[in-house]
Amino acid sequence: MANYSICVLPGDGVGPEVTDCARRVLDTLSANGGPNFDFDAHPAGHGIFLAEGHSMPDTTMAAAKAADTVLLGAMDVAQIPHGGGEPLGQLRQDLEVSASVRPSRTISGIPSPANDIDCVVVREVTEGLYSRIEYMVNNDMACAVRVITRGASTKTARVAFEQATARQKQGRVTAVHKVGALKLTDGLFLEAAETVARDYPDIEFETRNIDACAMEMIREPEHFDVILATNTFGDILSDIAAGMAAGLGLAASGCIGDQWSYFEPVHGTAPDIAGQGIANPCATILSAAMMVRHLGEAASADAIDAAVFDVLAAGGVRTGDLGGKATSTEMTDAIIGALERRLG
Ligand code: IPM
Ligand code: MG
Repeated sequence: MANYSICVLPGDGVGPEVTDCARRVLDTLSANGGPNFDFDAHPAGHGIFLAEGHSMPDTTMAAAKAADTVLLGAMDVAQIPHGGGEPLGQLRQDLEVSASVRPSRTISGIPSPANDIDCVVVREVTEGLYSRIEYMVNNDMACAVRVITRGASTKTARVAFEQATARQKQGRVTAVHKVGALKLTDGLFLEAAETVARDYPDIEFETRNIDACAMEMIREPEHFDVILATNTFGDILSDIAAGMAAGLGLAASGCIGDQWSYFEPVHGTAPDIAGQGIANPCATILSAAMMVRHLGEAASADAIDAAVFDVLAAGGVRTGDLGGKATSTEMTDAIIGALERRLG
């Protein structure tokens, strides 16, 4: 059986708890004839910043690059002062993972505002307004530089069109912009997307202004298949999509580059419940499934997805955010049980 090295970045808050749950699920695959995973945990985030003054130690970044892929919990980036680094942005930039793939869909047994949503936000994550170029002009004026490059826009667009092809849903990519206000940056982003679109004649390509898109996602969410967006617009739209579907507790993501990749839940560190063992582990477990799929183990990934959906549909074991009383461990045990039944 194949063997994969996984660099785990547990991070802050509930991050260590939910990555432990995902590791247990991956170990269940190995114990049932699936691939093997060698986990290697490294510090990143606010905790290590307080201890050592760096939020992304060089040793952590080297380990992330050396492993087959990376599983991240969550990092408390808001607590790190300017000058202390932005570890998530750095991880994305250094691993050159232009596109974050963020699927959202309604799930049987989980209440959601939309009847039917099944879309993927493909978000550029290395530049745009989160380029990490930010400075004070004087005491009363601060600037952030919104960087858009043809290279990153093209890579992200290609991931979006590949997703639209693989999903076999509507076969539609919606590129989101505000070109009326951001003529040069969003002009270049749209030009790159249009160029990629020519390579995919079977996929419908359309554009939307960010504000109109946000409204349409709430009024007509079933319209959307793959949404292609720059960094900040995609950050916001992926939370809207998650909220319209099954909530942030179930929102998984994977960042894909040419050479490196990493996978993480869309949710943050949830400091209000950190350390209590009650965080919903599903978003991280579903992110681990995306990771396993990216490694080429589609059958194992399908089995993890199905095990999570089995437990959610059965309804008896749920964490507090889903209206239940289960701990993270109990929910993970239930998912492992369902996975063993599927693999057995
Ligand atoms: C996300 C998060 C991060 C982002 C934060 C924590 C910096 O909101 O991955 O969506 O905006 O990229
Ligand atoms: Mg976000």
